[in-house]
This record gives sequence, structure tokens and C-alpha cells, in this order.
Amino acid sequence: MTKIELTVNGTRHAREVEDRTLLVDLLRDHLGLTGTHVGCDTSQCGCCTVHLDGRAVKSCTMLAAQADGASIVTIEGMAKGDKLHPVQQAFTDCHALQCGFCTPGMIMATAALLKDNPNPTDEEIYHGLEGNLCRCTGYINIVKAVKQAAQTMK
Ligand code: FES
Ligand code: FES
Repeated sequence: MTKIELTVNGTRHAREVEDRTLLVDLLRDHLGLTGTHVGCDTSQCGCCTVHLDGRAVKSCTMLAAQADGASIVTIEGMAKGDKLHPVQQAFTDCHALQCGFCTPGMIMATAALLKDNPNPTDEEIYHGLEGNLCRCTGYINIVKAVKQAAQTMK
């Protein structure tokens, strides 16, 4: 077992976890933050994307112990009260989701993309989201949403 301390969505947490515990399992099973989804467990789908110290990471690809001391933001930390994050609002406005299973990861990946590149081209959006898979939308409205969010966040 390993003792870890980390900040998640602004709240400090101390936990003792098995060495094999994945970060996504810490978030979902220990902290009850089930907005972070598991679509594959093999680093393929991006459904589990969160921000770790400001960078997008697939939380199924790292151990909880590796996040000791980190600051993490999950999809639950994006809205401010009733006000959706601009990326969340854009996904809503552009109908950029159907079943919604991929959406938390898409939103976290998009927010990280726009932080690094506030005005991405279509090609840069494709490249920035290539680690996130959607089984439903065909991606066209997702790309529209990324562009709307980029405009809103200027
Ligand atoms: S669940 Fe992590 S990449 Fe699919
Ligand atoms: S909206 Fe269903 S997987 Fe993306």
C-alpha cells in the first residue's frame, strides 16, 4: 500500500492505495468522480482523460501513486456552479455528442488543446483529439464545438 496526497478539483485528498491502483480507479472508486469514464483500459479511447498539473493525461495509463502531490481536474471540476465551461457549452450548442460516453474525455482533451493552441486549424484539431475516440458522432460536430469554444475563449 502507498500513502498519497493530491488535489482534485481544488479539494485536497489523502488516501492509502494499493500500488497497482490506477489513477482512473482512484478517481472513480475512491473519490466517487464517475464522470471520468473507462472505455478501454488500454490507452486507446481517451474517455478517461483528465488534467494533471495542467496537462491532459489518460488516467488509465498511470498509477494513482504516480499522481502523489499532483493537482488534478476532472470533468466535475470544469463548470463553475451553474455556468458550464465554454468547452462544455460549445459541445451542448453544437450537438457534439450522442450517447455522451466519450464526452468527458473529449471536453478535457479539448480544453487542454485550446490552452496550448487557442486558435487551432482543422488539422490541428484532428491531431489534438486523435487520442480520443467517439463511436457516435462522426466528429464533424465535435470539430465545430472546438471552434466555437476557441472563439468564446478568445
Ligand atoms: S479508458 Fe483510458 S484510454 Fe480508454
Ligand atoms: S457520443 Fe457516443 S461515443 Fe461519443
